[in-house]
Amino acid sequence: MSAPHRPIRSYVLRQGRVTDAQRRARDELLPRFGVPFSRGLLDLNRVFGRSAPKILEIGFGMGETTADIASRHPGTDYLGVEVHTPGVGGLLKRIAELGLANVRVIQHDAVEVIEQMIPPASLDGVHVYFPDPWPKKRHHKRRLIQPAFVALLASRMKRGAYVHMATDWEDYARWILETLSGEPLLVNTAAAFAPRPEHRPLTKFENRGLKLGHGVWDVVFRRA
Ligand SMILES: C[S@@+](CC[C@H](N)C(=O)[O-])C[C@H]1O[C@@H](n2cnc3c(N)ncnc32)[C@H](O)[C@@H]1O
Repeated sequence: MSAPHRPIRSYVLRQGRVTDAQRRARDELLPRFGVPFSRGLLDLNRVFGRSAPKILEIGFGMGETTADIASRHPGTDYLGVEVHTPGVGGLLKRIAELGLANVRVIQHDAVEVIEQMIPPASLDGVHVYFPDPWPKKRHHKRRLIQPAFVALLASRMKRGAYVHMATDWEDYARWILETLSGEPLLVNTAAAFAPRPEHRPLTKFENRGLKLGHGVWDVVFRRA
């Protein structure tokens, strides 16, 4: 019998690093601020209880940036997707502590979430900050940003919506720029890399890196 088809994932789930507080936050707060994965399109206005611009964030990590952006833009709704339990717990804790009404969380593979749950032409923006660079050549196929994925993302964006990616890995930055440039539905907002948009905060890690001369590359495209 042949082995069942296993899709290539852009992440590896690490076990055993979830603190009790993170797990408790996830278990207590996910029913309030979480959206369960399902194979049916979401009504995004219903999810947030209002009609407002909708931004999807893929791979929010511990959620510091998500919470910061959401607290500075209360008129915009943010849907964060992440697989990693400590990160999900971390963002949920921040949502509760800061009383954020404009953030919802899905703990699942973003590729499947976008395919199954996000309606066509429903997003006003997409954020992908510091996606795993998978630096070894034999792992490049695991990179999240691939032509088919970008085409899928573009199909879920409204006309005029933006997609904003940032990375501190130069080779991946060029890969992202090339991949987005190859998508016929997307148009670059800059000649090549973009200046950091005001909405993306400078993280502590990034600030330290910049002082050491390390680069960060932002890429911002719009849906035609
Ligand atoms: C290097 S971290 C960056 C986290 C955060 N955006 C930041 O800037 O600190 C990349 C994150 O993307 C998440 N991730 C990777 N592939 C994913 C996928 N297919 N669906 C959801 N999350 C994913 C990983 O779990 C990880 O937390």
